[in-house]
Amino acid sequence: MDFLRIRGGKKLKGSVKISGAKNAALPLIASSILAKNEVTISNIPNVKDIKTLLKLLSNLGAEFSFENSTVKIDTSTINHTKANYDIVRTMRASILTLGPLLARFGHCEVSLPGGCAIGQRPIDLHLKALKRMGANIEIKQGYVVATAKSGLKGSTIVFDKVTVTGSENIIMAAALAKGNTKIINVAKEPEVVQLCEVLNKNGIKIEGIGTDEIEIEGSEGELLDMDPFDIIPDRIEAGTYLCAGAITNSKIKIENVIPAHLEAILIKLQEMGFSLNIGDDFVEIEENMSIDPVKIATSEYPGFPTDMQAQFMALSTQADGVSVIEERLFENRFMHVSELQRMGAKITLKGNIATIEGKTNLMGADVMATDLRASSALVLAGLAAEGITNIHRIYHLDRGYENLESKLTSLGADVERLSE
Ligand code: UD1
Repeated sequence: MDFLRIRGGKKLKGSVKISGAKNAALPLIASSILAKNEVTISNIPNVKDIKTLLKLLSNLGAEFSFENSTVKIDTSTINHTKANYDIVRTMRASILTLGPLLARFGHCEVSLPGGCAIGQRPIDLHLKALKRMGANIEIKQGYVVATAKSGLKGSTIVFDKVTVTGSENIIMAAALAKGNTKIINVAKEPEVVQLCEVLNKNGIKIEGIGTDEIEIEGSEGELLDMDPFDIIPDRIEAGTYLCAGAITNSKIKIENVIPAHLEAILIKLQEMGFSLNIGDDFVEIEENMSIDPVKIATSEYPGFPTDMQAQFMALSTQADGVSVIEERLFENRFMHVSELQRMGAKITLKGNIATIEGKTNLMGADVMATDLRASSALVLAGLAAEGITNIHRIYHLDRGYENLESKLTSLGADVERLSE
């Protein structure tokens, strides 16, 4: 198994190009199930989660190529509709095949994803919405067995909670349904918006895109003819590199971003005293000798993303004073706390609130990655720490960060990938 060795304390400089957004690419690759033609999608990050979804679709009979950040995928050859446990357990987002498979084929079986390191993460809202659209759903031997023999029917869905993949599943299902589907309290994340925009450009009429109430006119089973398109930049990767600049007190530039998608992250960095130079498609963060403590509560977009919570906790260890971070979306998303403590961080946890006392001089240590974003917090801490930090179980990082070592090395960090 690989691990990352970081020799901390190096100042960073230069610029880094941000990759396409994994969380936009996943639903959009799944949306190729709704198409009759070979779909070409560019700016796809070369990360494990994408390969997992492509493998799942290929197991169902789809044909694809993935070269130079471009996926070409033909789902016309799909000949069965069972997404097996073996794949789904390695990536929860496999559930994104449920809506489009059911919509196109009228039946499918998708393994229940189960819990994960950051909490229970049920899919009850996805299932409830599909039932309202006329699907018959049963849970059999760990699988969601869904059927809609005469197709899905448009309906009004009210999500009790804002759910990102839940919204995406229902949007894709509604695209081929008979009649209109209104989704109230739909997620507004840029990744959900891009899914709507792509469907809309390819013949599915969607009103209210970007608001919390959308209405989708179903095609009554008629498959889409999808034009080539590019995936939006990854706002979480962008935020992580900005934190890398911030925690090492360095001036760096992130390129190929959409700054509007980063607003909540940029505002928190400014509140911590960082000066930012924000362009049309780049953000530059300036050196900053002292960091102000911060208060953060995670929430749905456009609020502060839960996927940036761990990175800001690492950064808060370097602030002069007490920072408070409240996690409102996932019940167990503090796995990084004990690892940061092993590096010398002073963090106390009470329920879903972490209090971070700064500034502490972090010391390199052997630490363990526990989930994707928790791992990136450990990388950030390692960059700021004195001495050597070895981060084990980095397969979590490989799920979502493209070329992490080479991007950090190009910025001047001392990072290498080694085998245990
Ligand atoms: C997506 C993102 C993930 C991000 C999260 C929140 C992808 C592939 N993953 O995950 O990176 O951290 O959004 O921004 O895009 N919930 C239910 N019932 C459901 C569905 C969700 O109770 O049926 C709850 C969840 O437990 C959680 C909250 O709703 O507390 C939000 O979860 P959700 O938005 O669904 O997260 P994901 O789509 O899994």
